[in-house]
Amino acid sequence: MDSNNTAAMDYITARLGSPEAPALAFGGDYNPEQWPEETWTEDVRLMREAGVNLVSVGIFSWSLLEPSEGAYEFGWLDRVLDLLHANGIRVDLANATASPPPWFSHKYPQSLPITADGVRHSYGSRQAFAASSPEYRRAAAALTEQIAGRYSDHPAVVMWHVHNEYGCHNQPDFSDGAAAGFRSWLERRYGSLDGLNTAWGTAFWSQRYSAWAEILPPRTSGTWVNPTQQLDFARYSSDELLECYKAEAAIIRSHSPHPVTTNFMGFNMGLHQPVDYWRWAEQMDVVSNDHYLIAEDRRNFQELAATADLTRGWAKGKPWLLMEHSTSAVNWQPRNIAKAPGELLRNSMQHVARGADGALFFQWRASRAGAEKFHSGLLPHTGTDTKVWREVVQLGQALRSLAEVSGSVVTGASGRVDVTIIHDTDARWASELDSHPSVDASNIAETRRWHDAFYRAGIPTDFRQSTDDLSGYRLVVAPMQYLLSDSGAANLDGYVRAGGHLVITYFSGIVDENDHIRLGSYPGAFSGLLGVQMEEFLPLRAGEAVRLSGFGPGTCWNELGKATTAEVLAVVDEGPAAGSPAVTRNHAGSGRAYYVATTLAPEGLSELLTVFCADAAVLPLIPELPANVEIGRRSKDGTDWTFCINHGTDDVRLPLPGAGLTGVELLSGADLNGGLSLAAGAVAVVRSRNSPLMGEPASPSTNHSIHSSH
Ligand code: GLA
Repeated sequence: MDSNNTAAMDYITARLGSPEAPALAFGGDYNPEQWPEETWTEDVRLMREAGVNLVSVGIFSWSLLEPSEGAYEFGWLDRVLDLLHANGIRVDLANATASPPPWFSHKYPQSLPITADGVRHSYGSRQAFAASSPEYRRAAAALTEQIAGRYSDHPAVVMWHVHNEYGCHNQPDFSDGAAAGFRSWLERRYGSLDGLNTAWGTAFWSQRYSAWAEILPPRTSGTWVNPTQQLDFARYSSDELLECYKAEAAIIRSHSPHPVTTNFMGFNMGLHQPVDYWRWAEQMDVVSNDHYLIAEDRRNFQELAATADLTRGWAKGKPWLLMEHSTSAVNWQPRNIAKAPGELLRNSMQHVARGADGALFFQWRASRAGAEKFHSGLLPHTGTDTKVWREVVQLGQALRSLAEVSGSVVTGASGRVDVTIIHDTDARWASELDSHPSVDASNIAETRRWHDAFYRAGIPTDFRQSTDDLSGYRLVVAPMQYLLSDSGAANLDGYVRAGGHLVITYFSGIVDENDHIRLGSYPGAFSGLLGVQMEEFLPLRAGEAVRLSGFGPGTCWNELGKATTAEVLAVVDEGPAAGSPAVTRNHAGSGRAYYVATTLAPEGLSELLTVFCADAAVLPLIPELPANVEIGRRSKDGTDWTFCINHGTDDVRLPLPGAGLTGVELLSGADLNGGLSLAAGAVAVVRSRNSPLMGEPASPSTNHSIHSSH
């Protein structure tokens, strides 16, 4: 199967339903090896009761499938797959390479990863291997060959699950193997030591290298290790791990036409756990992601929304698969708050609204033993007479009612998504390097603030890289793109001059791809485009705020400087930056570029958003979206599906006209000919053709209420 996300996701949904009536995926990780075989019959019976149609099998089964080197035992897996097939349940089959068995690590201790402090990981948890280990790669390839060869024609199998959450526990590795791999990678990147010395700025602190052999991973040293060395090591570590995926995926593809994926981990891959999902996504037939709520965050649904949108970015706007989330509590946070009644449905619907063609979970049956025994499952320890099980069954029904949504794409008020946020992996990694102006200046936090503002306004947003084609977007926001390549900077510049609207926030375009300062006025890459000349960063104290003449207050940061050609929309009103621009707008070519030189509070940001959106002709899906209500839309062949999710504790009435809220509400089957009242906690998905234009008068009609199931 080619890496063609649309075709690959359609391939799966057609096999979960039929080519004429594809089905959204519903199910999760199934680990039958944790249970006596008698339990399996009950498992499949209950899967059918809930409407489960896809399970991921074998992810952590290596030690059972290959109990000793080269000796394979597939009998139990044969029986599991046959049983699932007999019950019409499809399988996302793993190649089981995520957790090498004790015999392997014991025999090949050199395969274990080493931390920056030189501590060798032991085995006894999972993912105990170094990406550069030839022993690991050989063993993983042999196992993959066996599994793909044996099961490529099994009628239950519809897709392949390579490994699991690459890099979650073993990234990066600082071993001697990684050192050798890093040197080869650097030789390919720079060609010569001179090139490397220049890129790494090794004239600073007497770091000049005179032989390749002297170069090491950025292991713990007395103080900050060379920042470009750290950045290159993150890039190398991601590439090295990707080689593992590619080798295993190639073996599978040589046996089987089914789509191949590995499950990503959303925003979690920072500098110290580096995997560059933009590059990885190019190797996926289907982009799949795991998402877990930050339990204590009372607005964690906004983080979910941002992650789902980012995943759709990796999938280049095409449908993707939610490989894991949880029915209720997880086990790995300090306080594992259980999901509230209805939260399971709301969370799953958020993912579907944002482009997922299914909702899968970790895991089918909550474990009895092991490190994750307090993690919720579809089937709780306490059985089926439970809140969780009832909500699981309800979700299965909801996903069946929404089957027609499969294959559709996320759209905004204009019929396409009008806004995108730039999120370059290099910019994030580089912004997380040490010895920067302020620990509070965070690429992720700033990105989230902007995404949240659009979310509250009911304006769908994509995520793209600075080098992508942006011409289809009316408004592009680049939050704290600290590092920008020359090509990314030129692309953003060209986008504006061709008529686009670009918002740049502080600490963007400051360094090039080697983490070298772009000299001249700040923000280096954009001073001319923005029509500002900023001269000094003035980070603020923890908790400090500055008054602004508009959109204020500002926190975290402000800057000393002046506007050259830009119109100043707000200035800093006090302190050492008093009179310096805080928010500006500049005409460049036939477009406009805006600068925001501080962190704005939600209210100020929302107010400013209305200025940008008015300039760029960006409309929300629904005007004046009530607080705590989430709205999203998917579209296909002239049909729109509008998702309305009430996360709040108040019943709301969604104002009409707007956003296609006439038609059929698919979860209840009710006809809607007018307004929609949405009870606290409730979800509605409205199918409509040819949504009414914004501003069109509402037709007098009945009003339908959607009640929360609780
Ligand atoms: C990850 C892993 C799963 C499980 C869950 C628990 O997503 O892929 O195996 O550990 O976390 O939340």
